[in-house]
Amino acid sequence: MNKICIKGPSKLIGDIKISGSKNSVLPILILSLFLDGEVIIKNVPNIFDVNIVIKLLIYIGSKIEYSNSTYYINNKFINTSSIPYEFASKIRASIWIIAPLLYRFNCVNTFFPGGCSIGLRPIDLHIYALKKLGVLFELNNNIISAKINGSFFGSIINLNKISVGATITSISAAILAEGTTIIKNSSKEPEVIDVINFLNMLGANIIGAGTNEIKVIGKKKLNNIGKSYYIPFDRIETGTFLIAAAISRGNITCENVKFDRLKIVLNKLKNTGASINVGNDFINLNMNSKRPKSVSLYTFPYPGFPTDMQPQFSILNSIGTGSSYIIENIFENRFTHVNELISMGANIIIKNNKIIFYGVNNLFGSIIEAKDLRSSISLVLAGSIAIGETIINNINYINRGYENIFSKLKSIGLNFKLFFD
Ligand code: EPZ
Repeated sequence: MNKICIKGPSKLIGDIKISGSKNSVLPILILSLFLDGEVIIKNVPNIFDVNIVIKLLIYIGSKIEYSNSTYYINNKFINTSSIPYEFASKIRASIWIIAPLLYRFNCVNTFFPGGCSIGLRPIDLHIYALKKLGVLFELNNNIISAKINGSFFGSIINLNKISVGATITSISAAILAEGTTIIKNSSKEPEVIDVINFLNMLGANIIGAGTNEIKVIGKKKLNNIGKSYYIPFDRIETGTFLIAAAISRGNITCENVKFDRLKIVLNKLKNTGASINVGNDFINLNMNSKRPKSVSLYTFPYPGFPTDMQPQFSILNSIGTGSSYIIENIFENRFTHVNELISMGANIIIKNNKIIFYGVNNLFGSIIEAKDLRSSISLVLAGSIAIGETIINNINYINRGYENIFSKLKSIGLNFKLFFD
């Protein structure tokens, strides 16, 4: 177990080159299996979840080379559709391997996916969508056995809940189906748009990216390619560093980013009193040494406020002026950071899926524990502004989603030491 010891408070100031999007690259790497040729994927972040997917691809026969954030992947020699528990159970992304491997082998054996324990994380919508396209399942305990007799058939898929993952499953499973598929109540997330752009680059015919209804016109085959795809920036990493500037009364510029994917986050940050300046490829937040105002919000599917930035904004509301609330509408267990914050002196009450904040002047160092990816980075932000020493156990969650995070944090002035058991 790794831990970090942070000495606060620090004002966080500097420039951060934002990495490629974790939640875009994970499905794109897996869906490269739809192609027998070589595909080149650029700007891939070096993070734990990506490394697991790469190991999984190599295990089933992908030939992969890597240099300078670029993967050269050749899936000509895929030789199995049985996925070991050690891979499937570690990441949420493993669910997306079912569709491309069914097209190759007509049967797949895998396990229920992993992912941060921020809720039950069911896969019923994924199963529903694949069944609508002709897939037959045997599910027992955490084992998934899937097969297809003949081919996938286009269908109407009506998702009764907006789901990023199930939207990606539905789209990818339909691209080589016989006929057309309509996906209703689809996710509009930017990461889904990136996946659609990638699959269309491979030769798929997907219409409606960014809307709540997506049409997939099934193709007989994808044109073999040698094309490359550049993974867009990570909007959640960007928001995380902007919030770091706001809570520490600092001044941070995020580079290699576009503001259009962060409109609601920037609006909320402006409401805290931050001054925000955007350009073609950067976003700057300058708090001008002021204490932020706390700002109420609720999480909602895109273009709503992203759930993946709820823990980070909780830190801001803990020390912001006034009282506020956050309502978490997406996951049922995404408050694991709250008790840790209370142990640092925050004045917070939880009522069902609502957190109520009474802003305090200061947080104080404490010994706390990270329980998932976004709570780990949020507690680091809390430690950066706390008076005294904060020790965070289980800090290794942070490596799931933030590339070179400790050198980035050092470059903006965080005062910390890492301890590896
Ligand atoms: C993706 O998870 C992201 N992960 C999550 O990011 C993100 O928080 C989430 O989308 C929401 O935006 C990846 O892309 C790898 P969902 P996903 O399906 O696809 C329920 C991070 O920190 N649901 O959009 O698993 C589900 O329980 C991670 O980077 C079902 O009920 O999320 C949730 O309440 C955390 N049945 C809601 O839908 C299903 O079959 C939205 O989940 C699937 C989902």
